[in-house]
Amino acid sequence: MKILEITGGNTLEGTIRISGAKNSAVALIPASILADEESTILNIPEITDIDALCDILGYLGAETKKSSESIIINPKNMKNKEISDIYSRKLRASYYFMGALLGKYKKASMYFPGGCSIGARPIDLHLKGFEALGAKVKVKGNKYTVEAKNLVGAPIYLDIASVGATINIMLAAVKAKGITTIDNAAKEPEIVNVATFLNNMGARITGAGTSTIKIRGVEHLHGCFHEVIPDRIEAGTYLIIGALCGKNLKIDNIIPEHLDSLISKMKEAGVDLKIGSDYIVVNKKNDYKAVSAKTAVYPGFPTDLQQPFTVFLTKCKGTSHMTETIWENRFMHVPYLISMGADIEVNGDTLNIKGPTDLHSSEVVATDLRAGAALVAAALSAKGTTKITNVEHILRGYEKIVEKLKGVGAKIESLEI
Ligand code: UD1
Repeated sequence: MKILEITGGNTLEGTIRISGAKNSAVALIPASILADEESTILNIPEITDIDALCDILGYLGAETKKSSESIIINPKNMKNKEISDIYSRKLRASYYFMGALLGKYKKASMYFPGGCSIGARPIDLHLKGFEALGAKVKVKGNKYTVEAKNLVGAPIYLDIASVGATINIMLAAVKAKGITTIDNAAKEPEIVNVATFLNNMGARITGAGTSTIKIRGVEHLHGCFHEVIPDRIEAGTYLIIGALCGKNLKIDNIIPEHLDSLISKMKEAGVDLKIGSDYIVVNKKNDYKAVSAKTAVYPGFPTDLQQPFTVFLTKCKGTSHMTETIWENRFMHVPYLISMGADIEVNGDTLNIKGPTDLHSSEVVATDLRAGAALVAAALSAKGTTKITNVEHILRGYEKIVEKLKGVGAKIESLEI
């Protein structure tokens, strides 16, 4: 078992380079199989979720060549096979193979996807979208088979602006006959990145990044070169860490506009941020004031930063309120923060956080990816040495987190016990 041992209190100074976006890369890889030729994707993060997707590609017979930060995927010799539970449960994004295989072969069979336990995480909107395109859905226990004689473009309205459903429907619709429109589509930058990739391959998608996406089906897609956008959630996590412990800490290789909602909340609390064209420099201050935030779909405050941001709020004077509106079960970091000295009360979907409080070391568990990131942030700002277990969750989404933090002066070790 891997653990992280972090001794807090060090000032973090220097530059952290942000990697490619996990939530974009995990969709681009399945999307690549829609082409008849090989594609090259640059700025791929080195995280275990990517390894899990490459295992699925290998199982399907697609050739992959991975070097640092890039991947070449050749789907020429691949075959459509059922994706077993062993593969699908490793990560949430395995479900993008459902849309991609359906789009390519008009049939996909796979087991329910895995991922962090942060709520019920149904896939009904994905399935409704596939059905609207003409697919029949069969569910047997945990196994889902979607199959269509012909996929035909259709108008689709999403009851919830779901990231996964928006991308999955795009994947299934790019080669369907006619026009598909997705209304109330999610607008996250990762969706734009996936649509751009598909368009580079010859698809005809307009409106990605707005709430109406229009897809004109094409017969063939070709290979292309594409680059993953910077990870706004990784960047936001390090910005928060910088507000807790940074001195001229530069968060580099980012798109600052993707972080507008976080930046505005941090500024409101009094954080010292210097924003450049592709970087932000952050300095710790000692007089933050309480703020309230509510998670929402993009461009609202990202749910994936709610947990790390909670840690920042423990340092703000007064009572802050953090409301989670996307996931029902995303407060699992709270008991551990309380064990480290935080004053947090859970009131339904809202956290009431009284500050400022001094955090101290504890033995804590990374219950999910972003809870793990929150505990890393807490440990870096706490007195003493904190042990974090279940670190595998963190490594699913944060490339070289130990090296990146050590590089700016953190006392952090990854140990095998
Ligand atoms: C993606 C991100 C995740 C992020 C989330 C919201 C990936 C791999 N993961 O997850 O990090 O927290 O967006 O920004 O990109 N819903 C349904 N039915 C569905 C689909 C979703 O009810 O068929 C609900 C969910 O339960 C949730 C909400 O819609 O309450 C948003 O989910 P969604 O945007 O789909 O999240 P994911 O794509 O799973």
